[in-house]
Amino acid sequence: MRSIFFFDSSHKLALLTFLALSSQWQVLAVDFPAPITKCHFGDEKCMIEQGQKLLNRAATGIPELDIPSIEPLVVEKIEMLGDKNSALKVDLVMTDVKFHNYTKPKITTIKGFTKDLSKPMKIVTQNINPRLTIKSKYKVDGNILVLPIKGEGELTLTLDNVKTRFTTTLHAEQRDGKQFLIIDNIKIETQVDKATTDMTNLFNGDKALSESILKVLNENWRVLSDELTPIINEAVANKLKEVMAKFFKDIPYEDYFLPE
Ligand SMILES: *[C@@H]1O[C@H](CO)[C@@H](O)[C@H](O)[C@H]1NC(C)=O
Repeated sequence: MRSIFFFDSSHKLALLTFLALSSQWQVLAVDFPAPITKCHFGDEKCMIEQGQKLLNRAATGIPELDIPSIEPLVVEKIEMLGDKNSALKVDLVMTDVKFHNYTKPKITTIKGFTKDLSKPMKIVTQNINPRLTIKSKYKVDGNILVLPIKGEGELTLTLDNVKTRFTTTLHAEQRDGKQFLIIDNIKIETQVDKATTDMTNLFNGDKALSESILKVLNENWRVLSDELTPIINEAVANKLKEVMAKFFKDIPYEDYFLPE
């Protein structure tokens, strides 16, 4: 009995050592959150597929990476203040801003991953979104095309056929002998086919005044859109930078791609 006991215990010890080693190996090769899989370096088609899966998962949130749901994507505040040009002199404050469909575009491009980490990396991704809707509380005061506009209520901005280009600059940082990507900056540029604005409660709810200013605004949508879009894009870029940093934080760059 005794000898069997001893045999058993040393066998167990060996098994435990083996398990400890193998689980350490699993920790070393970090995976993306399921169902996102790895691609071969330079396989853009595969990366686009994974990018779509990442958007799907981000829509509901990725709890294991502490990433909240970004459908809708929420930005606390977006402010456009002062005289922009002769046609636009307004203060517009949007709060509790929600972007609906931000996770629903079709990705068309993912380029720029390099093997050389001694230089900063510039990753360019592009996508097309058939319809993006921004809803917020708003406060506006000023002039658009020399017409006064004033009010406080709910704003809905509907953007059709939004083409977005993200330029993300990153650098590598060494931790525990491994390289991790750190995001320095995200630049977002967009083009839209049409922007439609609706605001409730303009001029204290005066229906005739509201309808006429909204009509002018929508017939001349570029007047507002050209100035507001870069401000919106910067706010979204800051938000996405936080989200993406969580995604890349604990994945060493050498684990991004399948072995060749
Ligand atoms: C979201 O996108 C779908 C498909 O393009 C569109 O039908 C829907 O109106 C969009 N929803 C919002 C709130 O923009």
